[in-house]
Amino acid sequence: MSKIVLITGASSGIGEATARRLAADGHIVVLGARREDRLAEVAKAIEADGGTADVRRLDVTDRQDVTAFADEVAQRYGRFDVIVNNAGVMPLSRLDALLVDEWDRMIDVNVRGLLHGIAAALPHFQRQGAGHFVTIASTGAYEVVPTGAVYCATKYAARAITEGLRLELDPAIRVTTISPGVVESELADSITDPGAREKMRTYRAHTISPDSVAGAIAYAIGQPPGVDVNELIIRPTHQR
Ligand SMILES: NC(=O)c1ccc[n+]([C@@H]2O[C@H](COP(=O)([O-])OP(=O)(O)OC[C@H]3O[C@@H](n4cnc5c(N)ncnc54)[C@H](OP(=O)(O)O)[C@@H]3O)[C@@H](O)[C@H]2O)c1
Repeated sequence: MSKIVLITGASSGIGEATARRLAADGHIVVLGARREDRLAEVAKAIEADGGTADVRRLDVTDRQDVTAFADEVAQRYGRFDVIVNNAGVMPLSRLDALLVDEWDRMIDVNVRGLLHGIAAALPHFQRQGAGHFVTIASTGAYEVVPTGAVYCATKYAARAITEGLRLELDPAIRVTTISPGVVESELADSITDPGAREKMRTYRAHTISPDSVAGAIAYAIGQPPGVDVNELIIRPTHQR
């Protein structure tokens, strides 16, 4: 069955791959991110392949913007079935570098952005009596690495929030946490700290394609009603 799927952070990496994969599977995808030119390119490629994609500029740190994103989609299509809360940033650094603005940005995007997505979609899912939340967490939601204290904290939080949501919700609403390991994307470009950037060059030597994560999302949302895929970890075979 074709679903209407909102994806935050769909202008590159995992969000883009997910949009392409779900559109190829016959779903209608609605893409949000700040870089509108990149969103337009993704939508153009999807449409060239026969898929359907809408795009909208979105800043997940702005609660009203995220609410309007969900409300507009619900109004246009009468409903939506899935929200993939994927937008994230990862400016890694040691705590003693005191890059406090970057800590704040990770909290704003990775935690507040997720909460804004939940707050925007939940009333619609409750009204519909159905829906599916997909959170993109990380292997950093299970283990802390040096330079990753704040990033991992945001991903532990994302996992905890998503599990809490699952426990509280009506069982008709499904909840999935997808935790990727090292995936080829633009994520590490946000690292400004020279030491952390150098360390990541080794850590990120082996990556998997964002298509692998997109495939996991397609699997989770493709399950029949009554089947809830709660947590998946997808990492490169080399990653320890
Ligand atoms: N790549 C990995 O190794 C890896 C591993 C584990 C988990 N993850 C998680 O996967 C998710 C996607 O990351 P990625 O690897 O695909 O990296 P990416 O290519 O850098 O994509 C990040 C996406 O987030 C969006 N974004 C950032 N700030 C935003 C904001 N304020 N509002 C809306 N969108 C925002 C970006 O779009 P704009 O800049 O256009 O807004 C972009 O589309 C993140 O949550 C990340 O933590 C990635």
